Amino acid sequence: MNYKKCYNFQDFRSLAKSKLPSPIFNYIDGAADDEVTYRRNTSSFDDVSLVPSVLRGVKDVDISTTIFGKKLEMPVYCSPTAVQRLFHYEGERAVAKAADRFRTMFGVSSLGTVSVEEVSKISSSPKMFQFYFHKDRGLNSSMLERAKAAKFDVLALTVDTITGGNRERDLRTGFVIPPRFTLNSLLEFILKPYWGINYITSPKFELPHLQDYVGAGTSAMTSIGDYFTNMLDQSMSWKDAEDLGKKWGGHFALKGVVSVEDAKRAIDIGCTGVIVSNHGGRQLDGSVSPFDQLAKIVDAVGDKIDVICEGGIQRGTHVLKALSIGAKACAGGRLYLYALASAGEKGVERALSLLKQEIIRDMKLMGCTSIDQLNRSNLHYSKKII
Ligand code: LAC
Repeated sequence: MNYKKCYNFQDFRSLAKSKLPSPIFNYIDGAADDEVTYRRNTSSFDDVSLVPSVLRGVKDVDISTTIFGKKLEMPVYCSPTAVQRLFHYEGERAVAKAADRFRTMFGVSSLGTVSVEEVSKISSSPKMFQFYFHKDRGLNSSMLERAKAAKFDVLALTVDTITGGNRERDLRTGFVIPPRFTLNSLLEFILKPYWGINYITSPKFELPHLQDYVGAGTSAMTSIGDYFTNMLDQSMSWKDAEDLGKKWGGHFALKGVVSVEDAKRAIDIGCTGVIVSNHGGRQLDGSVSPFDQLAKIVDAVGDKIDVICEGGIQRGTHVLKALSIGAKACAGGRLYLYALASAGEKGVERALSLLKQEIIRDMKLMGCTSIDQLNRSNLHYSKKII
């Protein structure tokens, strides 16, 4: 199938599945334990329905939003995700360019495969750096300084990976980074020659933010779960987060908050935003979905800091529901990763374009011309969620 025949998230998912070696596809597609939270992240949107208004003159629709003091031309951005070069040889370059074209934000992970310096040359759009708090304080300082020097706009401290989630698909497929060609996985890689040829003929896999510290590309790298468990600092505390935010000195968010109390505390330590997320269901299975917690968190902190709903978003209507509750923007990883795996930059561009068209069409059908017109009165709750 050609990526131009993809019309939605599920189409891109199918195409990615056909192109990627199974360990890599399942790394993106998988989540923790029984993947209950992963499924709930999307199905929670079905418990709320939209109540459209009519006859409101909707010829021109403005779907821009402002978060962290930056205007985004669409209310969805590309969340930072790790090791993108494994999904497509263009990696983060593809996402940076596509997001730039749509004038929306995108994130680069500490575990990114293209450096913050290179990304900042490619894109003038707002940029988020996803910070993992390592035991190695030298590595932490180096990443912070590099993101600052590269003029990233937001630092997002990941707070939901204090230890590795139990991703059983990765255990079964033997997924490690960089990919290891074991007897088990070799056949899979041979069966997906498109991926294999590109992987071998394009620049070497690297983790430029870590390489001087953990010997990326050597046996020091294992599974993502082991990485979280062994390299990150499990004693990370509110004080550490506060100190980090101060050292950063710019817009600062906690990424991976679902508790109201934690969201309130984020304000106390100087955060300007909170990303309501459970890491795409990849960490604590059985944890609550971002959308299910959104109303409570918006009510508690939404008038003081930016609340972002991340996770499970596959459709424009999901975005409209989250914005109606009071999120300032939505974000997602898989919503562009399958597209990246399908066709690199062109794929991500198409995924963002489809999502943008959906949002504009849905806004018109809702009778709204700007996102501040969306509110809870245009929602119908099948279940009590507030
Ligand atoms: C994940 C991390 C790396 O695999 O974001 O979920």
